[in-house]
Parts: sequence; C-alpha cells; structure tokens
Amino acid sequence: MKNNQFNKNLLICGDNLKALDDLKKQRIKADLIYLDPPFFSNRHYEVVWGDEAEVRSFKDRWAGGIHVYIEWMKERIKKMAEVLKDSGSFYLHCDPHASHHLKIMLDNVLGHQNFRSEIHWQRTSSHSDSKKWPNIHDTIFYYARERATWNPQYLAHSPEYVSKFYRYKDDRGVYRHDHIIRSASMGPRPNLAYEYKGYTPKWGWRMLRDKVEVLDNDNRIAWSKTGRPYLKRYLHEQKGTMVSSLWTDIPPVSPHATERLGYPTQKPEALLERIIKASTNKNDLILDPFCGCGTAMAVAHKLNRKWIGIDISPTAISLIEKRLDKLGAIKRKDFDSIGMPTTITELKALEPFEFQNWVINEMRAKQSKKLVADMGLNGYYDKTIFTEEAGIQVKQSEKVGRNVVDNFETALRRGKYKMGFIVAFSFTKGTHEETARVKGKGLDIKLIRVEDLLLGKIKI
Ligand SMILES: C[S@@+](CC[C@H](N)C(=O)[O-])C[C@H]1O[C@@H](n2cnc3c(N)ncnc32)[C@H](O)[C@@H]1O
Repeated sequence: MKNNQFNKNLLICGDNLKALDDLKKQRIKADLIYLDPPFFSNRHYEVVWGDEAEVRSFKDRWAGGIHVYIEWMKERIKKMAEVLKDSGSFYLHCDPHASHHLKIMLDNVLGHQNFRSEIHWQRTSSHSDSKKWPNIHDTIFYYARERATWNPQYLAHSPEYVSKFYRYKDDRGVYRHDHIIRSASMGPRPNLAYEYKGYTPKWGWRMLRDKVEVLDNDNRIAWSKTGRPYLKRYLHEQKGTMVSSLWTDIPPVSPHATERLGYPTQKPEALLERIIKASTNKNDLILDPFCGCGTAMAVAHKLNRKWIGIDISPTAISLIEKRLDKLGAIKRKDFDSIGMPTTITELKALEPFEFQNWVINEMRAKQSKKLVADMGLNGYYDKTIFTEEAGIQVKQSEKVGRNVVDNFETALRRGKYKMGFIVAFSFTKGTHEETARVKGKGLDIKLIRVEDLLLGKIKI
C-alpha cells in the first residue's frame, strides 16, 4: 500500500486514539514520532489545561494505577506503530517513575531489535532531597526502523578537552596527535606493512602508502621527538564531540525564556531541535500525538519539516494556533486545524470551562488567572492587547437578562474597569436597556452574541 500524499500540516483537537485511526485510514505515515505523554509521576499535578476533555482522559488513565496507565499507553503506541514509516524513528519522553514499564511495552510493540538508545536529559540542576538521590533527568527512549534517517549531532569540544588534547600549533592552526600507525590489538595487515621515510611500524600503517604520501606532502604528518609518526588533527576541521545518550547541555524552559508559554510541562525547543535534526531531513513528516503547547510543531515548522499535532484539549490547540501565528503560519495558511467546535450546537455541547476558553481565545483576550471566575470576570484585556482595560464575562446560555448586567457592573467597578463585554448566545430586551442605563453612569458594557463571534463579525 502506497503512502498517501501528505499535503498540509495538521492540528487535530481530539483523543489521539481516534485521530491515529483516521490518519491510518488516510494512509498517512510519519518519518518521526515524538511523544511526551502525561507522566506517571505527576498524577496530582498532571492536569495541565484543566479543561474537561483533558480531565476525562486523566481519569481514564488513573482508574487503576501503573498497569492501567501502561495499557492506556500501549493501545495508543500500537496505533502509532501503524502510522510510522518503515524507515521511521520513534522517541518517547517519560521519567524514571514509569520508564522501566514503558521500555518493556515498547520493546514488545516496536520490536526490541529496533531499540537504539535510552537518552537521559538532565532537566534540572541537583537539589537536596532528604531520602533519595535527587531525580534530575527525564528519559527519552529512541527506537528506529531499518534505514531510518540518522544525522549525528555534535557539540563544540569543551575548553578542558581542547587544552588537554589540542597541544600543538602550526601555520594551519591548533591540532592534536592522532594515530596513523596500527596498534598490537589491531594485528598485522600485510598490505599496510611498509617502510616510509625510514620508519617501519611493527604492526603496519593505518592506510596505504599513497595516502600517507599525500598527507605528508600536505604537511599533515607530525614526527614526535622519539621519531614516531602521528596524524595532525586540526581543531577547526573537527565537527566537535558527537552528542551521546547523556544530554546535560539543554536547560529547561526558564520562567524568563521568550519561548515560555506559561505551561509547566512545556519542553524546550532546543531539545526538539536536536531530535528532529538527528532523525529527519527537510520535508519529512513529524507527528506528535500529545502535542501540548506545540513545541514539536513550532520547531518542525522552523526547520521546514511537515507536521501533524494532536491534543485532546481545545485550550492546547488554541495556544498552538497562537504560537504558529507568530511564525506567520496562519497568514500563509500553512496548516489546517480540525476538531475544534465550529457550530452553535457544538459550542452549546462544550463543557463550561472549555466554552469559556473558546470565547476568550476567539476574542483574543487573556484568560482570568483563576480557573473559577475571577470576581465575576472570566477574561480581560489589558493595554498590551486593547486600547482600554476591559473585563469579560462569558455565559453559556440563551436570553441572558438584566441581572447579569447588574452583577457584572459591580465586578467591573470593583476592578476599576471602564469597559466590559458580556458574551452569550442571546440577550433579553431588558439587558440592552440596562447597558444603556449603565453607560449613562460612565461604564461601557457591550453585549456580544456567540453567533457573531463564530461568524467572525466581531472585530476587537
Ligand atoms: C506533557 S503534555 C505535552 C507537552 C509538549 N511536549 C510541549 O512541549 O508542549 C501532554 C499533553 O497530552 C495531552 N493529552 C492527554 N491525553 C490525551 C489524549 N488522550 N489524546 C491527545 N492528547 C492528550 C494533554 O492535553 C497535554 O497537553
């Protein structure tokens, strides 16, 4: 069966269990799958978005402890295996609380022969812990199928390494001595046993005579004081130290980082950049089935890879849309977004918190900091996004009446706002009269119908 032509990057709002089935039906296959699912360790803190879809998914996972969690993951990993190319790579991000269970399950589903590395990413510096060695790393399991793309990554040599080994210098630059003759452990090779400039190594040379001559003519052979030949390895010609399975050079997203979106499990772009560069080439397709605030999508986009992101939370998907908007992706129509509510019926069916998030996102406003309405306000504008500071109240109901205006007036005056918005499906006549009365007292309350918001008629 041939792979489907994948034309457009895709953001999918929904449970990945179903979304992965849909991808399979469309015969879409990825070159790289990276997933950073909710961890076993954070069971009490793990609910990131707080919206109902995520909370439901959270409850399913935790109904019966670690085995339920592993089964929950296994079901999904099997589907991921079906949408991974025969030449694909797979990375699963987890932490030491469940990594041993996950590794056995991954070996079974993906094939233990495809296991390549267990990466340890140091995500924080050491801190004191009274009863155990502090856990400061996450684990990333790397599996790859045959002919998977592999572009080794390098780091500049450390200054200590350079000063220890690169001890020589000539007109071309700083260099170190490297082997050009064979050692005892390599054994003899008749075609490499020859005399050159009066020197005959006991176990022979590492290359044929012609090559040694070329290097020598190019002044790339150094002779030690004891008369032993070495190859000159110039520092500026080296790629650096190959990145190993221990990653200590990528800090977590700091509270002041420009990439920070204010969400605790956000992974640093540098981490995704390393994975994506190592295991894909331009135009390859990357899939993140638990994409959170879209770190993998943003990096894939910047590196000219194609991508699909799936998350169960509408709030997460809205956040990713904003993140991609900053990269110009919305203006250029670089991706399609599916699964988000698009009709009044769907909006009415949303859980209250999701509905509220949807409205605030549509209005390009800021969420109220508290999950429960903040002094009667669900969202607000400050002067960084709007000419006036203004409060927003969201009602997921029809025929909102004048009492809502009265309560909102109190909340706005308490917050010293001069302007506010009430968003609902419809308003009574009395509500309009009440806003006119309040306006006379210097407070501008605007009534916004969800339908107008949905149709894009409201321009804030
Ligand atoms: C740890 S976060 C991913 C963080 C991400 N790597 C980043 O850098 O932003 C896990 C995500 O999985 C999502 N999630 C949980 N259950 C899901 C499911 N069944 N299907 C799709 N996404 C799910 C959550 O909404 C959350 O955003």
